[in-house]
Amino acid sequence: MTEARNDLLLRALLREPTPRTPVWLMRQAGRYLPEYRATRARAGSFHALCTTPDYACEVTLQPLRRFPLDAAILFSDILMLPQAMGLKVEFESGEGPRIAQPVRTAADAARLPVPDPEAELRPVMDAVRLIRRELNGRVPLIGFAGSPWTVATYMVEGGTSKSFSVIKGMAYAEPAALEALLDRLTRATVLYLNAQIAAGAQAVMLFDTWGGILSPDLYRRYSLAPMTAVIAGLVRERDGERVPVILFTKNGGAWLEDQAASGADALGIDWTTDLGRARTQVGARVALQGNLDPCALYAPAATIRMLVERALKSYGAGPGHVFNLGHGILPDVNPDHVAALVAAVHELSAHA
Ligand code: CP3
Repeated sequence: MTEARNDLLLRALLREPTPRTPVWLMRQAGRYLPEYRATRARAGSFHALCTTPDYACEVTLQPLRRFPLDAAILFSDILMLPQAMGLKVEFESGEGPRIAQPVRTAADAARLPVPDPEAELRPVMDAVRLIRRELNGRVPLIGFAGSPWTVATYMVEGGTSKSFSVIKGMAYAEPAALEALLDRLTRATVLYLNAQIAAGAQAVMLFDTWGGILSPDLYRRYSLAPMTAVIAGLVRERDGERVPVILFTKNGGAWLEDQAASGADALGIDWTTDLGRARTQVGARVALQGNLDPCALYAPAATIRMLVERALKSYGAGPGHVFNLGHGILPDVNPDHVAALVAAVHELSAHA
């Protein structure tokens, strides 16, 4: 039997009225779940999870079995794309991803191929199709990619960074090299997200984790402009339904009005930005997604409930809010606290 279709997420992203606020959580599939750790151990590595559709589908569905979440998000990683462009990405547990031969010059950038997703990223596309089949309409599936800027930070720095001095140095000293890289990533990201949409993703999100380390000028030029170009290239309707786009710049609260003009349907915001004030700034142009501090999940259930209530009040009445954290769930969070969060959103946001 087909279960009742829950499209609250898609409606809220399009600022249509919903009977309650939909909720999903960044990194809802991940190490805080013992069943994720078990599947990862069986798969042998994080990389094997991402490149084996059965495993990717399994871990995507795990949090939905535990919690009444309103969306699934494809289990993959933003660094699958640079890998498909020929870079060797290693996910060492504990210290984050490493890229052994980073991109440093315009010639390096010019050598990067723009991959055909159904060829070089086939396991991801197969995972999208499999997850849609398994979900059977229960909740929508979100596809995603990193923003060109954020993916470029890993490709240039060779991993994560504290100062981002290599890529920022490139922005100031060798802008043509950075622009060549961002141009390739923009084209690759359009193809990648459109392929996810064709395979069944019902909404897509751009993760701009590192846009917030830039000056306003460089943010507009190197983070927001490529995202705007990606969004302009996306297929926005599939099977007669609009495919909403979410743009999330972590630490990007100072530039919400610019983001609202990007063509995105919704903006992700983190906990450093006040939800109510953000809403005043963007008005009716976009929906908002966020924004509880992931560390709030260390609090006892009663506190979590109070914080959910505060966030819902801050957004206020009316459509256009998707409840989420301001960034991913941390690996040492107690799953019972996630249950308390989801239950609180369901209860406290319901209106007759
Ligand atoms: O949200 C979800 O549940 C979907 C899955 C997802 C992952 N990564 C799985 C993952 C998504 C949407 C991402 C995006 C991603 N990956 C981003 C943007 C969002 C963010 O978190 O800022 C970034 C910057 C990456 C790059 C990346 N991948 C880093 C920095 C790390 C190491 C950090 C860490 O948590 O260990 C990864 C690995 C990674 N991606 C894990 C997961 C579940 C942990 C892998 C493991 O050890 O099992």
